[in-house]
Amino acid sequence: MSTHAKLTYEGKEYTLPVVEGTEGERAVDVSQLRQSSGLVALDPSFGNTAATESSITFIHGEEGILRYRGYPIEQVAERGRFTEVCYLLIYGERPSPEKLREFRKRLTYHTLLHEDMKKFFEGYPANAHPMAMLAAMFASLATFYPEESTAVDDNIARVIAKSKTIAAFAYKKSIGQPFMYPKNDLSWPANFLRMMFAVPSEPYEIPEVFEDALNLLLILHADHEQNCSTSTMRMVGSSEANLFASLSAAICALWGPRHGGANQRVIEMLEAIQEDGADLPGFLDKVKDKKSDVRLMGFGHRVYKNFDPRARILKRAADRIFNELGISDPLLELAKRLEETALEDPYFVERKLYPNVDFYSGLIYRAMGIPTSMFTVMFTLGRLPGWIAHWLEMKTDPSGYRIHRPRQIYAGPREREFDDRGTRHM
Ligand code: SDX
Repeated sequence: MSTHAKLTYEGKEYTLPVVEGTEGERAVDVSQLRQSSGLVALDPSFGNTAATESSITFIHGEEGILRYRGYPIEQVAERGRFTEVCYLLIYGERPSPEKLREFRKRLTYHTLLHEDMKKFFEGYPANAHPMAMLAAMFASLATFYPEESTAVDDNIARVIAKSKTIAAFAYKKSIGQPFMYPKNDLSWPANFLRMMFAVPSEPYEIPEVFEDALNLLLILHADHEQNCSTSTMRMVGSSEANLFASLSAAICALWGPRHGGANQRVIEMLEAIQEDGADLPGFLDKVKDKKSDVRLMGFGHRVYKNFDPRARILKRAADRIFNELGISDPLLELAKRLEETALEDPYFVERKLYPNVDFYSGLIYRAMGIPTSMFTVMFTLGRLPGWIAHWLEMKTDPSGYRIHRPRQIYAGPREREFDDRGTRHM
């Protein structure tokens, strides 16, 4: 492999180092390009730019590969539990049984919110979007747990533990029901389901199929290398903003419909198609008409130009869960038909548009009784360990880290005089 690339410009030749990753990915290192040539690289949505070297997650877009710290997602999804995957992503290795017990115990004893935080929920309107509440609550954690360098592991445990409580409280707020407090003898997923759906007046039996389904969904969403929200986490963290502030920013980035907000839009899209008489060819014609601004939500991906392996796993899981529950959801059948129809259409095949993680996830959340407005919150709960892992990887980089500050190419007016138009005292 060549270890350098050459750039020729205006009669001069510049030699640029080439970096190769563990899986053979290669990058031209342009970190000294400006100093040596006066040139900068331009890549507006970073589709051709590696922001960092990272050891956390590997994705091969053409082959539909996803691995967490080297472990194939199919195996992690089948055999893992969410709290162990959190530890693996954040600390780099699977914990020993003793370390896992200690980690889970810390999570258990950090699940409660400070009682004063409950008052924050009272100020929101009933129809407040839970992602707005989540972003505010995560930033507010910094007022209760000031970031100390010695407290990083405690704060990591706090956010993973309290995230499910904040999410469940946001849901209870939206339906006007009393908050349910966590129980220390329940798993992370079971504790969340109970806080979401139990009421003080009667016992609540946690359906095992739901606990397992939630564990799977959390694992599948846990990390995905330098996606929009994770890049936001690294960007904000690079200014030395604390963990809570960085997470609040990542939550806001995930909220967008092009990113984590897509799972909510997929269900809304399927419901609209169904109301419209399930005219799939007619709907896809609208999608293909650029002027319509209609997108096939849950399809397409910046990296995967083959199947998103998570979508494959979720499609099988949806079938299994619906069979176990003995229910059928017309939207699941509609989604499958929509996928088949799209994958036979040259528009989608030529653009390598396949179902992504958001295409089937919402159908499973729906079956669990989770409202559409909470879907992106569910994505947040899953992605937390990934955001934390990348933040910590940057913070503990032995070669240090600099504040993220991209350059630009100015394309505005040249110098001109700001003449006195007598407006100073208007
Ligand atoms: C997630 O980055 C990650 O890893 C994200 C994620 C994670 O785990 O963090 O995987 C989670 O965010 C999944 C993506 C969820 N979003 C959606 O499902 C929304 C619908 N999909 C898109 O908007 C789009 O596909 C993106 C945002 C996902 C990717 O956008 P890109 O890479 O910028 O692709 P593009 O917009 O340049 O599309 C290339 C072409 C364009 O057509 P042409 O200009 O070439 O004619 O494909 C078309 C697009 O118009 N296209 C779509 C489409 N997605 C792309 N056309 C119709 N429907 C779509 N969904």
